[in-house]
Amino acid sequence: MSTPRRSVRSLGLSILSLVSLSSLSTASSGLAGTGLSVVFNDVYYYISPFPSGRVPMNPKSLSSVPTVFGFKPVTVIQDAIAESEIPDLFTKWAAEDDVFQTAFTQAIFLAGSNQTCLTKREIIPGGATSSIVGLNVTTVPSGPYFLEMATGSLHPVSRLYEDFAQAFLQSLIRNPEGKFQPMSAQIPGSASLTIGVPSRLYFTKTAAKPLAGVRLAVKDIYRLAGVKGSNGNRAWYDLYPASTYTGPAIQRLIDAGAIVVGLQKTSQFANGETATADWVDYHSPFNPRGDGYQDPSSSSSGAGASMGSYDWLDLAIGSDTGGSIRGPAGVQGLFGNRPSHGLVSLDNVMPLAPTLDTPGFLIRDPYLWDAANAALYGSNYKSLVSATPNYPKTIRTVSFPASAGTSASSKILLDFVSALANLTGATVKPLTLATEWTATGPAGAAPLSQYLNTTYPAIITKEQIKLVRDPFYGDYAAANGGRLPFINPVPLSRWGYGDTLSEEQLQAQYTARETFMGWFNTEILAPVADETQCSSSIVLYIGSTGGQNPRNRYGSAPGVPFGFSTGRVSPFTEVPDSVFPLGEVSSTSSITGKPEPLPVAVDVMVAKGCDGLLVRLAQDLVKAGVITIPKTGASGKTGGKILLKARGF
Ligand SMILES: *[C@@H]1O[C@H](CO)[C@@H](O)[C@H](O)[C@H]1NC(C)=O
Ligand SMILES: *[C@@H]1O[C@H](CO)[C@@H](O)[C@H](O)[C@H]1NC(C)=O
Ligand SMILES: *[C@@H]1O[C@H](CO)[C@@H](O)[C@H](O)[C@H]1NC(C)=O
Ligand SMILES: *[C@@H]1O[C@H](CO)[C@@H](O)[C@H](O)[C@H]1NC(C)=O
Repeated sequence: MSTPRRSVRSLGLSILSLVSLSSLSTASSGLAGTGLSVVFNDVYYYISPFPSGRVPMNPKSLSSVPTVFGFKPVTVIQDAIAESEIPDLFTKWAAEDDVFQTAFTQAIFLAGSNQTCLTKREIIPGGATSSIVGLNVTTVPSGPYFLEMATGSLHPVSRLYEDFAQAFLQSLIRNPEGKFQPMSAQIPGSASLTIGVPSRLYFTKTAAKPLAGVRLAVKDIYRLAGVKGSNGNRAWYDLYPASTYTGPAIQRLIDAGAIVVGLQKTSQFANGETATADWVDYHSPFNPRGDGYQDPSSSSSGAGASMGSYDWLDLAIGSDTGGSIRGPAGVQGLFGNRPSHGLVSLDNVMPLAPTLDTPGFLIRDPYLWDAANAALYGSNYKSLVSATPNYPKTIRTVSFPASAGTSASSKILLDFVSALANLTGATVKPLTLATEWTATGPAGAAPLSQYLNTTYPAIITKEQIKLVRDPFYGDYAAANGGRLPFINPVPLSRWGYGDTLSEEQLQAQYTARETFMGWFNTEILAPVADETQCSSSIVLYIGSTGGQNPRNRYGSAPGVPFGFSTGRVSPFTEVPDSVFPLGEVSSTSSITGKPEPLPVAVDVMVAKGCDGLLVRLAQDLVKAGVITIPKTGASGKTGGKILLKARGF
C-alpha cells in the first residue's frame, strides 16, 4: 500500500522542483522569495517572484548588459516585425506604458528572428548597442523583464510608486495560485506605502478579458484570498485571519483581467467620518485637489484620493450606502457610480447595511467605466454604448439656483443643465420632492422630512450591529478576556443610537422606505419599456459646489445622521445615482493664502436598472465637450503639481 503511494508523491515533488528552479520561488523547500526591488536609471522597479516563462540561455551571452542579484534587464518582442521597425515600436511603448524604458533594450529577445546566435546592433539610432537574441517561446508577452541568468527565467517587472496620498493600507500582488501577498518593496517616502504596477505591455484586451491589465485598487471591506482586512479598525485586523477566498464581486473583475494593486483605506466600518478627528485608528487619505488639505470625504476615501492623485491607477472600487462613493467622487472631481441596488453579490464584503449597500467605481475615464460595470454587474448591466440612446425628454433639477448671479459654481451647474437639455432634447423642470410628496404621496402621510427622518440611521445601525458589531464584540471578548475593542467615535455613537431602537421601530422604518420607494419609482423616476430610453426622466441634484472643507478644522462631536436629503433618495429607492465632474471654482485657501481650485460636480439619477444610460450619457457629454475627463493633480482641469508634493510626481 505504502510503496506505490510514496513513488507517486516523489514524482509530484520532482515535477514541482523542476518547475520552480528559479531562485526566487523555491517554495517547495520552505524557502520562498517575495520579489526583489531595484533601481534602474533612477526608476524604482519590483521584480516579481513569479516568472512568466523561460528562455534557453547561454550563460556567457549578454555579458555587456548590467546585472543585479544575478538578473539582467531585457526586452521581449513578440510582434512579428523587422529590426528596422523596432525603434518605432519602442516609441509607441514608451508612450503607452510607464514601466518600459529604453534602458531595458540592451538585450532584446526577438520572436521570429532566426538568429540562433547573438548579434549586436545599434537599434535605437545614436543609442546603446543592443544584443539581439532569437526567441522561440511564444507564451511570454512583449515587454520589459528581468532575466535570471542562472535559470533563464523571465520575471515580470512592476514600476514602484509612492502612495503620497496615504490612500492605501497594503500593496498586493497575486500569486499563480490566485492568492494575494504583499508586494515587498519600499521606495523613499514619508509614512507612505509603495505600490507597484505591472507593465501595460503584458496585457491585451480581448472580448474575454475586457479589463486586461487595468490597474485596480480595492476598498478594505472587500475580502481577498490570502489577505487580512481591517474595515478601518486595527483590532479587527489583528483578530481575524486572512480570507481564504476572494469574494465574487472582485473575482469578476479579476476574471475580466483587472490587476489588483492594493487595498485602500475606508472610514471605519464604512461609516461617514470627517478628517481628521474622526479618523482615530488610521489617518485619513489626502484629497489632492486645491491646497492638498481638503477632506477626501468618506467612506471610500482611499479610492477617491488615489483616483484624483495617481495617473498610474485606472480604477478604484468603493461602496456606497449613504454616499460613500458619491461623496469622494464629488470632492475629488471624478466620475463615481452608486449603481442600482442588488446588481452583484456582496458575499465576503463587510456590510454596513445590506438593504442599502452597493458596490461601485471611482473612475476618470467613462469608456473604461462601461467595461468595468459590464464585468462587475454581468447580465444585470445593460450597456448602451453600442446602441442609439433615446434620451428621456424630461430633466428634473432639485434645488438648483434659478440664476447664476455672481456664483461661479452656479454658473457651471446651470450651463451644464442647458448643455444636457441641448444634447438630449429634453425640457427642464424643477423638482421639489417635499411638495410632490404632499401632493401625490400617500394620503395623510407626514411631510417627507419627518416621514423619513430616522429611516437611514435606523437601518444602518440596526443592520450593522447585528451583522458586524455583535459578532465582532463576541469574538474579541473571547480572545481578550472579556474586553471591548477600540471603536472610532462615529461608528460607536451610531451603534449607540441603534441600541435604543426596538425591532418594531426598525420595521416601521423599512415600511416607510418601501412606501417612499414605491411612490418615487412610479411618480418621479419610472422605468419605461424602450430599453434605449429606459428611464422616464433624468433627475439632477447638486453634488459638490467647490466649497472649502479643510481637514485641519475642529468639527463637532459625532452624532446620528438624522434627516432626509436628496442624497438619501437613491439608497431608499434603489435607483442608480452617478456623480459627473463638471469643472472647478477657485477660492482663497486658508492654508496657502492663494486661490486654489476645487471641483464642482452634479449627481445624475435615472430609473432603477438604467445604469447603462448614465454611462452612455457621460460618454456623450465628454464627446460633446460638455465634460472633460478629469486629470490627476491639484486641478482636475489642468492637472498640476499637488501642493504637498514638492518634487512633483
Ligand atoms: C531566416 O534566415 C534565412 C537565411 O538567412 C532567410 O532566408 C529567412 O528569410 C530568415 N527568416 C526570417 C523569418 O527572418
Ligand atoms: C527553442 O530554441 C532552443 C535553442 O535553439 C531549443 O533548444 C528549444 O528546443 C527550442 N524550443 C522550442 C519550443 O522550439
Ligand atoms: C447645442 O448642441 C449643438 C451641437 O450638439 C451645438 O452646436 C450648440 O452650440 C448647442 N447649443 C447650446 C445652446 O449649447
Ligand atoms: C428627527 O429625529 C430627531 C431624533 O428623534 C429629532 O431630534 C429631530 O427633531 C427630527 N427631525 C425632524 C425633521 O423630524
